[in-house]
Amino acid sequence: MKSKPIYLVCFLLHLLIPIFPATSDYDASGSGTSIVFKTLGRLDYAFDIFSLPTGINPLSQTHEIKITDSRSVNYNGHFPSPSSSYSLLSLLRNQSVIQTAGRSYPPPQQLVYVTERDGLSNIYYDEVYYEDLSWRSTRKRSAFEVPDRVQVPLLDLQNSRNGISMKDRPSLANDYLVYVSTHEDYGLARTSSAAVYSTELKSGVTRRLTPYGVADYSPSVSPSGDWTAVTSYGTKDVATEWDDEVEELGTDIYVFLTRDGTRRVKVLEHGGWPCWGDERTLYFHRRGEDKWWSIYRAILPSHGPISTESVAIERVTPPGLHVFTPATSPGNKNFIAVATRRPTSKFRHIELFDLEKNDFKEMTRLVSPQTHHFNPFISPDSTRVGYHRCRWGGKGRESSKSSKLLFQNLPSPDPGISLFRFDGSFPSFSPAGDRIAYADFPGVYVINPDGRNRREVYGGAAFFTVWDPVRNGIVYTSAGPDFATVGTEVDIISINVDDVDQTRTKKLTTDGKNNAFPSPSPDGKWIVFRSGRSGYKNLYVMDAEEGEKVGLRRLTDGPWTDTMCNWSPDGEWIVFASDRDNPDSGSFELHLIHPNGTGLRKLIQNGSGGRCNHPWFSPDGKRIVFTSDYAGISAEPISNPHQYQPYGEIFTVKLDGSDMRRLTHNSYEDGTPTWIPKLMKAIDVGWKEDRPGCEFEDLHWLNDMPSHSGCIGAITNARASVPSVALCGRSF
Ligand SMILES: *[C@@H]1O[C@H](CO)[C@@H](O)[C@H](O)[C@H]1NC(C)=O
Ligand SMILES: *[C@@H]1O[C@H](CO)[C@@H](O)[C@H](O)[C@H]1NC(C)=O
Ligand SMILES: *[C@@H]1O[C@H](CO)[C@@H](O)[C@H](O)[C@H]1NC(C)=O
Repeated sequence: MKSKPIYLVCFLLHLLIPIFPATSDYDASGSGTSIVFKTLGRLDYAFDIFSLPTGINPLSQTHEIKITDSRSVNYNGHFPSPSSSYSLLSLLRNQSVIQTAGRSYPPPQQLVYVTERDGLSNIYYDEVYYEDLSWRSTRKRSAFEVPDRVQVPLLDLQNSRNGISMKDRPSLANDYLVYVSTHEDYGLARTSSAAVYSTELKSGVTRRLTPYGVADYSPSVSPSGDWTAVTSYGTKDVATEWDDEVEELGTDIYVFLTRDGTRRVKVLEHGGWPCWGDERTLYFHRRGEDKWWSIYRAILPSHGPISTESVAIERVTPPGLHVFTPATSPGNKNFIAVATRRPTSKFRHIELFDLEKNDFKEMTRLVSPQTHHFNPFISPDSTRVGYHRCRWGGKGRESSKSSKLLFQNLPSPDPGISLFRFDGSFPSFSPAGDRIAYADFPGVYVINPDGRNRREVYGGAAFFTVWDPVRNGIVYTSAGPDFATVGTEVDIISINVDDVDQTRTKKLTTDGKNNAFPSPSPDGKWIVFRSGRSGYKNLYVMDAEEGEKVGLRRLTDGPWTDTMCNWSPDGEWIVFASDRDNPDSGSFELHLIHPNGTGLRKLIQNGSGGRCNHPWFSPDGKRIVFTSDYAGISAEPISNPHQYQPYGEIFTVKLDGSDMRRLTHNSYEDGTPTWIPKLMKAIDVGWKEDRPGCEFEDLHWLNDMPSHSGCIGAITNARASVPSVALCGRSF
């Protein structure tokens, strides 16, 4: 599709300065380093927003139109109402070229959506011109209609420190943009900073609508614009710590005035993803007592105070399939749009649900049966339903060739640190920085940082990689299954990646009981690793070249799990994750110990009860990067593809446990970071070979079909193209 964007050079809106330390406060670790980590699934997503007409039967692929422009990922769209887009357009048109003057027919598709272009999570407005949206005509677009896209970022984040945050679920309501942002991080462990904000389009004034200490997700504005409904986590005035749940968050639905967040009232317990049928009717999803996710309807009282007692609730969709993320169109009492998981398919699809006939009308399965479709929304005139899906692969789709990223550059809070997402697990760099090793389940691979020369260096099951700091071309890994019990055979091996013979691997451990996470001392003489040989996973040190057969020293000892160790560049410290404060609780905290066994201490004193994993020292040894659940959950998990641990975010902290900094903001699992002594150029790097794209699965817990138990096996055992490893936090 030919679409030349018009970038209007007006950044309309300005957010308030967030509660966030100034960049100059940040004690940069060296003048040029990079942090590289993995995000489960994210580089496979390639989401764009598409739409289908609601009134055409039967649907075919030619009816589907792509609204967004294939740059980065685009998702969670909203079709603005005519009144709110009028307000936005009058603002735009006064300040910009009137490219669209005189073009009154056909009306453009107007869209507000989340995009992650340039590594920033931002909200954009696009106006896209199509020849004939009814698709009854086969006329081609004529030349004078080009350019056919107006594109405007709605939040000025490039020059703002709060650019490093997550933006989600935007909608336009009259003169206001209402959305979720995570930019106000008030520094409380295991507490989400997701909150709802409104920005007035004319003045640019931004207002927080969510009380401090509470997390709000999935806002929906009523047809009049007066009221906003949200999915809310935590109800107290003090911050509500996240309780470890990663499926259904135990949220309630609240309603408040869009204008200023006042008159906030709880309308119902146990529900999420609200949307308004009219000023008194809310649709929402919940997992019912019969375990099916279903759509429910809440009728608010027409007069008198609103409370959970005065709200009447009824179930709308029947059991037998999972139905969730409802969408309405104001004034349309005939149907709602929903996402479904049917027992007959392992794919998530968009359907319409007829509210009078109580009947489903399938939409996306008829067009793209083998792709997941997410989070529907309906046009104000109810003629189109929008959703996002992966644009790559399959019949009539774009190829992932040369667009899939190996490295995605992300904005960094410190200009001295480049931040990258990498398309492989446990990335590690050779001492010269010219090669990267990573795990791909199965196998260990080596690739150049420019995406060339990828080759397999170990073919078996393995996890974790690290290079020897002295001996050229030596990579250590743990060979065997991940997430295995203490007695499972896993061995530390070294791989000579330059050895062209087949003798390039060497087994360093001789007791095969779950030996993993090797880390060499800076002189290359020793390796610290964790082993389950005593019946508990503790730390041991052995000779790096000859392995444990020439001697083994136990470094930690106790009936708990010590794991994921990393040796400091000055050789003085080993940092590791341990559940020693509460064995088997799933709670891991970072600890430090001298290699001679003295000096043991907990790194972060006030972060108790969380999951801190995969620590790695900065090249100057002054800070540690790690993954943690300190930021809780940033979005309703059901609105995303499968994430084992949607709470994983990347943080750094000083060696004395102070000055913790959050580097990533998203609703995915970020983990396995490495920190290298080189400032990599802050640009994306693509794969140089065609890589499979869109290879992600729907939420595993939606495979559970309560009254169709015969189907469960078939669905659960389907294609396991996504590695069954989690990167952050679970007890390895
Ligand atoms: C745009 O221009 C029109 C008339 O020229 C004016 O009435 C309107 O207030 C302007 N809108 C903004 C947002 O400046
Ligand atoms: C922990 O305390 C340090 C100072 O000792 C402070 O910088 C940090 O923000 C606190 N973190 C949490 C999660 O409370
Ligand atoms: C242990 O190592 C630390 C750090 O190298 C050193 O300061 C300390 O003196 C050592 N202790 C013993 C008992 O050797």
